[in-house]
Amino acid sequence: MSFPESIRSIYQAQLAEIHHAGIFKEERFIHSSQSADIEVEFPSGSELKKVINMCANNYLGLSSHPEVIKAAHEGLETRGYGMSSVRFICGTQDIHRELENRVTEFLGTEDTILFPSCMDANAGVFEAILTSEDIMISDRLVHASIIDGMRLCSAQHDTFKHLSMEHLEEKLQLHADKRLKLVITDGVFSMDGDTAMLDKMVELCEKYGAMLLVDDSHATGFIGKTGRGTHEYCNVFGKIDIITTTFGKALGGASGGCVSGRNEIVEMCRQKARPYLFSNTIAPVIVSGVLKVFDILSGSTERRDKL
Ligand SMILES: Cc1ncc(COP(=O)(O)O)c(C=O)c1O
Repeated sequence: MSFPESIRSIYQAQLAEIHHAGIFKEERFIHSSQSADIEVEFPSGSELKKVINMCANNYLGLSSHPEVIKAAHEGLETRGYGMSSVRFICGTQDIHRELENRVTEFLGTEDTILFPSCMDANAGVFEAILTSEDIMISDRLVHASIIDGMRLCSAQHDTFKHLSMEHLEEKLQLHADKRLKLVITDGVFSMDGDTAMLDKMVELCEKYGAMLLVDDSHATGFIGKTGRGTHEYCNVFGKIDIITTTFGKALGGASGGCVSGRNEIVEMCRQKARPYLFSNTIAPVIVSGVLKVFDILSGSTERRDKL
């Protein structure tokens, strides 16, 4: 089948606009493993350069840690390469449940469900637990994956000014009549690196009978005294209803994510979250690597302290 010029020219014009706006994204090809020191080909086709990498989310330097790599090899040998199924048909191994239990223990929640990524966790969680009678009230600077997840959900939506607890309280008052109220924030914000005031948010949620969801992708593993995350840093460990997070940053940096929180919320996700039901979960090799990451983090806070 041909691709007519009339169609091609529409995309060419859009790409030219992206170039013109100065936001065309060119990828840098790394020829080494992910690390503080890497070898990069940029622009494409040029000679390799050795550079110091200041922009990965490899916060704890675990992306190429020898013990993590060894554990991943063992996972590959003992559990194979892929699952070839979604979780609820025949895509669950013992190590998937083991990882869910480890995350639950680490984050101080009641239960955890794995997703292929945190993007998928955020895409699935809202529609699984809310209906059109409910309201989502989000900080205006939440991550793109939360915005997309909220778009996929039939619940009503409102926002509060970035980090403004006064504005959040106004919105909680405004929506007092809704069946369920879910307040949504990043723990550490992905673009600016500032931190949500989770202690105040917990207080407000308790006062107005709302639930709190925190995306802690930029905090799990290294924020807080023992690296449990923003809830530990803000002294509200055990008080967050729903935490979503990624294994694609500090926790080895491969891929995968989860929803961790109240038992009923996690069970609703297992029954209804579409990226969980209709997509393969994390491959055994990665699950084995992440389990080793939790061994390393539970044994010592040395890496976090250095950071
Ligand atoms: C706050 C936040 N949430 C979610 C994600 C998505 O994580 P994943 O790579 O696991 O899909 C990111 C990644 O950039 C993020 O910064």
